[in-house]
Amino acid sequence: MTDIIDGNAVAAEVRDGLSGAIDTLDDAGVTPTLATVLMSDDPASQTYVSMKQQDCEEVGIEALDVEIDPDAPAEELFDTVADLNADPDVNGILVQMPVPDHIEDRDVIRAIDPAKDVDGFHPENVGRLVAGDPVYKPCTPHGVLKLLDAADVETEGADVTVVGRSNIVGKPLANLLIQKADYGNATVTVCHSRTDDLAEKTRRADVVIAAVGVPELVDGSMIADGTVVIDVGVNRVERDGESTLVGDVDFESAKAKASAITPVPGGVGPMTRAMLLYNTVKAASRQAD
Ligand code: GUN
Repeated sequence: MTDIIDGNAVAAEVRDGLSGAIDTLDDAGVTPTLATVLMSDDPASQTYVSMKQQDCEEVGIEALDVEIDPDAPAEELFDTVADLNADPDVNGILVQMPVPDHIEDRDVIRAIDPAKDVDGFHPENVGRLVAGDPVYKPCTPHGVLKLLDAADVETEGADVTVVGRSNIVGKPLANLLIQKADYGNATVTVCHSRTDDLAEKTRRADVVIAAVGVPELVDGSMIADGTVVIDVGVNRVERDGESTLVGDVDFESAKAKASAITPVPGGVGPMTRAMLLYNTVKAASRQAD
């Protein structure tokens, strides 16, 4: 039987695990606060931000909603970030990416105070992660590690193939998996669009993590029997005239061979959202010390 890893259930455990720290902060008169900054007309970005705000409110984190006209000059965004950096009541700052074309994502990431960078995208936080001393692990890679933990997957000595090399998922995840740490000590292969013979790299893996943004790229023919398959992809596609969500894994054919697999939706997605709450509470606790 293939284990379908239930991201909603594991995310609920992560959220429940935050209540002690939130109560302690509350006793000290601190309400953890996340500022979300949206500078986009994209309906998907708007939905993501409102889901993050709703998650916050459900666990007792205050969500400060900042919206900026996408046509506004760059200064407006940078001034906003500077104000939030300086505001002692704001513990975490999340600027929803991508920002409009007249602003570079990387300039925005660098403008955020690393102590409030709950995405873990700032170069200081990336550097600390690579050096084995992370403060804020990026939410999706951290969520993937928690899912592997919850599914009792041993990463020590395992061959893990990560398909995708993004700054948000593939690179930090590969770095975390090779560390001398829990859910580390793996031997990691990182694949991308220029990889020769991708199927050979996925077939030899004990764990395949697909984070490449190509709908259903990894199918059952590309994995060995008993593989653990983690699907980070969220792709909207037209099927039979209807819009539907699929991952980077062809679920049915991969499930037939996998020992455990995450569904889309209901796998990695809820974990990403839960780890943002985790990082926000961590930020508030660090700033309260
Ligand atoms: N856009 C898509 N995913 C993310 C994310 O994890 N954080 C931010 N800030 N923007 C995103």
